[in-house]
Order: sequence, then structure tokens, then C-alpha cells
Amino acid sequence: MRTDTGEIIHLEDYQATDFVLERVDLTFELDPLETKVEARLIFHRREGVAADRPLVLDGDELKMTGLLLDQEPIAADDYTETAETLTIRGLPDSTPFEITVTTELSPQTNTKLMGLYRTNDVYCTQCEAEGFRRITFFPDRPDVLAVYTVNIIADKATVPLLLSNGNFLGGAGMGDGRHFAAWFDPHPKPSYLFALVAGDLGVIEDSFTTMSGREVVLKIYVEHGKEPRAAYAMDALKRSMRWDEEVFGREYDLDIFMIVAVSDFNMGAMENKGLNVFNDKYVLADPETATDQDYANIEAIIAHEYFHNWTGNRITCRDWFQLCLKEGLTVYRDHQFSADQRSRAVKRIAEVRHLKAEQFPEDGGPLAHPVRPTRYREINNFYTTTVYEKGSEVTGMIATLLGPDLFKAGMDLYFERHDGQAVTIEDFVRCFEAASGRDLTQFALWYHQAGTPLVSASGTYDASRQTFTLALEQTVPPTPGQSTKQPMHIPLRFALISEDGTILTASGVSGAEVTGDVLHLVERSQSVTFEGIASRPVVSLNRGFSAPINLHFEKSSTDRARIARFETDLFARWQALNDMALDALVAATASVRAGTPVICDQALIDALMATVSDDTLEPAFRAQALALPSESDIAREIGRDNDPDAIFAARRAIMTAIATAGRETFAGLFETTRSTEAFSPDAASAGRRALRNSALAYLVLAENTPARAVEAFSAADNMTDLSQALTILVHRFPDTPEAAAALESFQTRFADNALVLDKWFTVQATIPGAATLERVEALMGHPLFNGLNPNRVRALVGTFAFSNATGFNRADGKGYRFLARQILDIDPRNPQLAARLLTSMRSWRSLEAGRAEHARAALGEIAAGAKLSPDVSDIVERTLK
Ligand code: ARG
Ligand code: ZN
Repeated sequence: MRTDTGEIIHLEDYQATDFVLERVDLTFELDPLETKVEARLIFHRREGVAADRPLVLDGDELKMTGLLLDQEPIAADDYTETAETLTIRGLPDSTPFEITVTTELSPQTNTKLMGLYRTNDVYCTQCEAEGFRRITFFPDRPDVLAVYTVNIIADKATVPLLLSNGNFLGGAGMGDGRHFAAWFDPHPKPSYLFALVAGDLGVIEDSFTTMSGREVVLKIYVEHGKEPRAAYAMDALKRSMRWDEEVFGREYDLDIFMIVAVSDFNMGAMENKGLNVFNDKYVLADPETATDQDYANIEAIIAHEYFHNWTGNRITCRDWFQLCLKEGLTVYRDHQFSADQRSRAVKRIAEVRHLKAEQFPEDGGPLAHPVRPTRYREINNFYTTTVYEKGSEVTGMIATLLGPDLFKAGMDLYFERHDGQAVTIEDFVRCFEAASGRDLTQFALWYHQAGTPLVSASGTYDASRQTFTLALEQTVPPTPGQSTKQPMHIPLRFALISEDGTILTASGVSGAEVTGDVLHLVERSQSVTFEGIASRPVVSLNRGFSAPINLHFEKSSTDRARIARFETDLFARWQALNDMALDALVAATASVRAGTPVICDQALIDALMATVSDDTLEPAFRAQALALPSESDIAREIGRDNDPDAIFAARRAIMTAIATAGRETFAGLFETTRSTEAFSPDAASAGRRALRNSALAYLVLAENTPARAVEAFSAADNMTDLSQALTILVHRFPDTPEAAAALESFQTRFADNALVLDKWFTVQATIPGAATLERVEALMGHPLFNGLNPNRVRALVGTFAFSNATGFNRADGKGYRFLARQILDIDPRNPQLAARLLTSMRSWRSLEAGRAEHARAALGEIAAGAKLSPDVSDIVERTLK
């Protein structure tokens, strides 16, 4: 399977390899510009494969310096080398044979950050999905599992640390100033899980005793001097290891587990066997430099990569179409972990916010694809929120359908049946069918049909019969390549709430299967009748966001307020408030466009203030209630002909109305939630800070002067409060001397901390309004900007394009043209980064005509670029289609 030529790869073309790879022996002689790699690969021909079939290996930008068969040179007419393959003919029929390939690499100039590269003088690898072929010619696909031995040789003084997967075999000096280390990984693995790290790094060390009593050494490597900032990551790792034993019964399987933090990384982190490599943003934290969000991210990503050891590494994907097999499942596992470590309801709210902000626009736009796609041009473009987050939701729905015990039985069966294998989504689903006896054929459409289902609901109460009837209808919108859809199996958790706030239990239900509080919607339209209902109920539907759908259910704000007040499911209370706010914001946007005054629904203000003042609710939940739907949430709800300036003005007006009405409450909250204790990153403390900072944001709006934010900025004793105060100040009063002074002091104070400087760039890139483009352009020329560092590029260009609706969508189209220039500039050095940034254009068709035309033109400029990478050309073509 090859992807680089731009051809489309189809799932139905899958075939097992002709040759089985038994063993891999790698030797690296590290050098910044001339690294030598010797790969000895032991193969045998698979039974039944014809004797004249050649061996075809993958390669990408390789310089091959030698090729042997069983230690003898291979004659020139027995092999063919192209830019992407090495084909070897005349191989033994029935006996194993050894191919030795030697290649020469230049890690220092490898700016794609795939394969072997250098970051801050450290050698490091990223092989998922197809980076191993940039190291040597290899059957670089996830269903080729082999046992690896790795020898690393390097200069001892400058490269004292030599790491690879598995257990350390030994090492020694070589007498010539160099030294070597040997590693052996006993677990067969695909090449994408290979890793090598070498350099001069600091370390913190700990240990973990597994449930069967084995001692595992834990090490986290960071730049010298940053060791104390890895302590939280180490704590999160130990909690993850314990949790996976307790909840999933999974034990770690090597003598050592290592994490390395690097500053140049295309993604979040990578689960290489026994040697995870992390973007340092997801390892390093202390109160002075990391926000509560940073702490939560570190905890979640440390857990995610660790959990991959079983869901991804021990059981891996047969092919890359099955990516959600490991990613959706592992996200589900890290969500459960975080929910157990923190507040489950608040965690769920944050997940759903993220899903709606990122995955719903993807699913509703030109880049929509099934959780388990059937075709791709460039696999790197499928590390999406659909595969990850929707994949997690689908796993969660299996748990909802089966209940906790059968879900666990299905997971246990999966581990038992498939340990050591490379499998498919069908294999995964079959385990739950076997464990439960349930037929999941219709349910599995969640993997195969793209698009967010729309469920429309309406209720009728019949007082004389004491029945309540819920009419439900589902449609799945057409998506690229899928014009018609089958009805899905949608598990809807629900509650019927009476006038006085009690949750009603029906004496009988007809028209749908109902198990506990789950209603199974399986037809296109279904009418469900509940008997024995004494008064007109309000329905809380899709409790806990049990299915990732859009729900249209007309309700008065009094009914929504009833849910917000009485639901026992906290998530549903938040959802009701959020729906009320969204209604108000959509109406306000229409008023702004019509030039009529914005009037804020009093019921919304009352419900919000009641929630915010309710001390029995945890502060983090109250902060979530105060965070109104974002500008892009509003745009998505409106759906078409969007004017981001009108949306912004409407949202500002509604917030101001809430701020004015709640001024006393916000002032009181801000004063009373001031912490007197030493900083702690735990969820409860983080929740108090979140509530206090949302109160501050409203207060500053009500007071309409920068004073309070300036004061909070100077008083802050942790990064959460500091960056919040800075953001409130700079976003609300960007052109004041106060804002300039705060930015200046922040920059000076954190001049030597790259991760904090990223925040400094982001605050400025996300200032609302058209003028921000000029600011961003100026910042591109700032001495601290570095176009080679992905975190820095994302902090400035990425947040501008993704998170600044008014700035990026300037009416004159200059925001889009700016992005087009950046894409064309970044693409030749780092295609993955460029392609990811370009997905910020995915909702262009829902803009009003003027902006849409500018967006189309900018996309056209990119499409016309000379020598586009497959990554960027794939995204731009699909976006324009
Ligand atoms: N498997 C990694 C994770 O889930 C993501 C790595 C993807 N990297 C890439 N270059 N596509 O955490
Ligand atoms: Zn993952």
C-alpha cells in the first residue's frame, strides 16, 4: 500500500503480504547529516504464495547504500528501486532468508518531523503512520508484526543517552569516543511503533509495582533543568497504570516504561512501545507556567498514550482504515479515566463542547468521512476528530447499549481473542455481539455512515388517557461519497420530568424498546407512548449526550428552565441552559443583521443566575454554565449565510445583558472565591479558579473599564489566573496602554519559556476584530516567532485561523489570503502541519456570499500552488469539491 503518488487507497483492496517478516535487527550510527542505518530483515514466503512473486518494500526519500541477500550482494537485475519502492526478485521459495538494507539519513535537515529527525539537538523518531519507510526500505504497514533488536552507536560526549523500545540489553564505550547501546523488544510490533531517541537529556525516575507484583522502572526525559516540571506527568502516569489494572484488568508488560518530551512535534504524543514520545506541551507543568487546562491535558494524554499499550500496541490495526480501532477506543478509555479522576459531569460537558466545536463541523462539511473510512489518499489526514472523538462516542454507545457488565465482558473477550494480532473493527464489534448475544449489525452503521444524524422530536400529552407520546424522526445528511443513508440505531437516554420536578416512571411503554433510561430509536420514524403519566411532562432527551446527534426539539424557555432546574443528570441541566443560550444567541444574531435591538430572554438570565448562585453545585459546573456557546457554535446552528461580525456583536450584546443583570453576583463571586491556599492543580481547585475567572470576564464587561482585569493580572499567583486576566484585558481593550503593558510584562517575564510564549502569541492572535490580521502579520516577523516549530506556528497562525472568527473571516478576504500564503510557505518543509492548518477552511460554504467567494479564491490559490504535498493537495481538493 502506497500513498505518496496521490493515488487513492481502497479498503476493499486489502491483501495480506506475500512474505512474513520474522525478525528485525537495526543498527544506527548516528550523525546529524550522515546517519548510517543497517536493517537486517528475516523473511519467509507465506504459504501458498507463488515462487515468482517478488518482495516489495516501501521507501520514502531514501538513499540506499547497500543491499544484500543472505550477506551476498544482489545482482542489479534482481532488484528495482523507485522513489517509493524496492522490489526484489528471485527469492527463496520455502526457506527463510535475510535481506540487509543500508541507508544514509540526514536527521538534521528532516523538517517533516517524520522518520528520524533532530529537535533541539536530540535525535528522535516519529513513525506513525508511514514514517518508518523514511528510515529504511520496509514492509511499512501495521499488519506486519516482528520482534526488533536495535543497536545505537553515537558520540559519547554529545549523545550520552541512547534509547529504543523494549528492555535494555547492554551498552559500552567503543574506545574511539563513541559508545553503543542495545535494546530488545520481545513483543512483536508493527514498524509504526518503533522509536529511537538519543541525545543529552535530564530525567526523573520512579517505579510502579504491577498487580502481579512486577516492578517497572518509570523514566521521564526532559531538557536539562526542566526535571521538576515533569513531576505531574509522572504522577499522572502512575495513576493511569493503576487505573488500567483496576478498571480494564490490563497490566504493563515490560521492565521499563519511558517518556521523552521534545519541543518539535507534529501531533500531541506517540505511543511507541515502551518509549512514548511527547510534545513537551503535554509533559511540562508547574503552577507558574501551566494553566489548569494544561494540567488536565497532560493527565489525559499521558493516560491516552499509556492505554495504547493494550489498545493499539498489543492489539493493533490490520490496516490504516481501522485507525479508530485503536484511537476511538483509547480516547474512550482516557475519557473514562479523566472522569474518574475528576468530576464526571464536568468532564462530559467539556467532551461534548469539544465534539461539537471540532467534530460536528468536520462531519457537516466537505471533509466528512466515516469513523471507519473505506478510501484515503493521505493517511495523515485521517487523524481526525471523527476517527478519535466520534470513534470514542461510538465505543461509549456500545457501553450504553450493553450496560457496564456486558461491555466489560466484551472488552475482556477482545483482549483474550486478539492479543498479539492486527485486527479490524468487525473483529472488535463481534466481541460485543458474542458477549451480549445482541445483533449489532445496524448499530455498526455508526462506523460506516458519515454525517451527524439529526433527530427531530415532538411530544403530545393526552390528559384523559394519561399518556404521553413522543414522535421521533431521524435523518442522516448526505456526505461526500454517501448520498443516501440507512436509519441508525440511536440510543437516547431520557427522563420525563413533571411540573413539580419529579422524574416520572411510566407504567408502560409501547413503540420502542426501552431499557432503563435508554430509548432505542431504530426506525426512520417512531412514535413512543408512555402510559400512566399524570400530568404534562417535559422530556429531557439525549441525557449525558448518549448519542452524538443534532437534536431538534422545540421547547419553551420555561420548559428548558424546568430541565435546567430539576434534572438529576447534571449534564442534561447544562445542556438545557446551553440550548436556551443558543436560542437567544441565534435570535440576537438575526436582530443584529436586521438592525433591530438585541433583547435578551429574561428566562435565560434567571436560569443562569440561579445556577451560578447555587452553592450546592460544584464551581466547575457553574463556570461551564456561564460559558456561552462559542461563535462557531452559533454559526453552526444557523448553518448558512453566516456573518461572523453579526454573530460576534450578538454574542457580545447577550453577554453584556447577562453581565449587567448579574453584576452584583459576579462581583461577590469574584471577591469570595479568592484562594488563600497554596496552588493545587486538582479538579476542585481548578473549578474554583474557572468560576472566579468567568465572573471576572462578566464583571469587566459590566464595568466597561480595564481596571479589574489589570488588578487581577498583577495579583495572579498562577498561570491560570494570569493568562485569564491577560486574555480578558487584551481581548476587551486591545488598544489600551494597559493591554500593551501587560503583554510587555508577560513577554519579559517568560522570555525563556517557549510554551508560555506560545500563550503570548495566542492571546494576541485571538483578539476579536479585523485589525488582528495586521497584528498577526507583524508577529510573524517578531524575533521570537519560529516557523520551524509546530507549536509556535499553531499558537500564532493556527489559533488565528481556528479561533478568531471575526479576524480570520475579515469581510475583505485578507484573512484567507494570509492563510493561503502561510500554507504554501509551510507545505514544502512540513506538509502535515500545513494540511492540518488548512482544515480551518472547512466551513467556508456556510459563510455569506461575499466571504465565501473570497474563501474560494484563497483555496484556489493554494490548489494552484506548484508541487503541493499529497497532504495539502488532498485537503484542498476535498475542501473545494
Ligand atoms: N497515535 C498517536 C496518538 O494517538 C498519534 C500519532 C499520529 N501521528 C501522525 N503523524 N499522524 O496519540
Ligand atoms: Zn492515540
